[in-house]
Amino acid sequence: MKYIGNKSRLIGFIEECLKDFNINYNNCKVYDLFSGTGSVSEFFLKNDCKVLSCDNMNYAIAEQYRRLYFRKEPIFNELKNIIGYEKLDDILKYLNSLEGNEGYFFENFCEEGKYKRRFFSSSNAKKIDAIRNKIDEWKDILPYEKYIFLVGILMNSADFVSNTAGTYGAYLKIWRSMALKELKLEKPEFINSGEIKMYISDVIDFVKEQNKADIVYLDPPYNTRQYPAYFSVLESIVVNDNQVLNGKTGLRNYEKQKSKFSIKKDVKEEFEKLINNIKSDYIVMSYSTEGILDSNFIMEVLKRKGKTKMYNTSYRRFKTNAWTEKNTNLKEILFICKVL
Ligand SMILES: C[S@@+](CC[C@H](N)C(=O)[O-])C[C@H]1O[C@@H](n2cnc3c(N)ncnc32)[C@H](O)[C@@H]1O
Repeated sequence: MKYIGNKSRLIGFIEECLKDFNINYNNCKVYDLFSGTGSVSEFFLKNDCKVLSCDNMNYAIAEQYRRLYFRKEPIFNELKNIIGYEKLDDILKYLNSLEGNEGYFFENFCEEGKYKRRFFSSSNAKKIDAIRNKIDEWKDILPYEKYIFLVGILMNSADFVSNTAGTYGAYLKIWRSMALKELKLEKPEFINSGEIKMYISDVIDFVKEQNKADIVYLDPPYNTRQYPAYFSVLESIVVNDNQVLNGKTGLRNYEKQKSKFSIKKDVKEEFEKLINNIKSDYIVMSYSTEGILDSNFIMEVLKRKGKTKMYNTSYRRFKTNAWTEKNTNLKEILFICKVL
């Protein structure tokens, strides 16, 4: 999944820093806060950790169920009597072969729909309608984990054929070639080590409720762009609540999902509150040199908790038409604090 702030290309850097700081990250209890696509959770799972991940967006949690939750292919025995299949390959084949229909996603997110938004080709928008509604027919039959896993697969496949440059803040005027391909649900790979539980919650509420961890990793948004505004279409696919959407790009109402970590006047206080509530042996935090929090301030707050070191590396920024800057001095920072 294309995602702003995705740490998949920085895992090597994070690993090097953990080693330099002499942290044994094998078989640990880890909290991945602001977990997004789950790239960092994946790293810890591969090192046999027990991970609890937390993000306040539904699409992020669905994506993590898709790629991280199951240790091996789930069997859909609950559907055997309904559609005659129980193997994942057969379920995906069944869903892929459904005939599209003109529902909510057609109306809202394609050019032939009422609002003429070019996020998907008309045939793919119709497929999203058919598949999403079929999965919802199974909502009360399937355990939540299997249900949201299928929703995550649909969301990821839809993202793959979306007519965007990476975020849903805008759709493209010209069709990109991938957007003209037919949407196809694909089976994910399964990680056979570690254990994970996902929480959809505000990070501060989450840490207040949890016991002590070995490592808490945090990756807050670093600028004033609100994630729910940039990934609204994916949130709609996952939530499927037929909400009336606003404006040219069909934005959901995201008032309750706004992050204080992306609001200049609130971020300092929110950050201090979060750090003060963390119970852990180590705190590991990613940030950027162009973030709205100053690195000296972060250092000052972390030093109050324990011995802290700051690492940095150059980084090519996430590129979209709407979100590209020429800053070549951009550095990705990693703070590590040994809590005393
Ligand atoms: C920089 S991204 C994380 C990227 C992630 N580490 C990855 O590799 O994909 C920041 C994430 O924080 C989430 N977020 C922002 N404010 C939050 C809050 N107060 N509580 C929980 N999650 C929040 C956003 O939804 C977004 O997914």
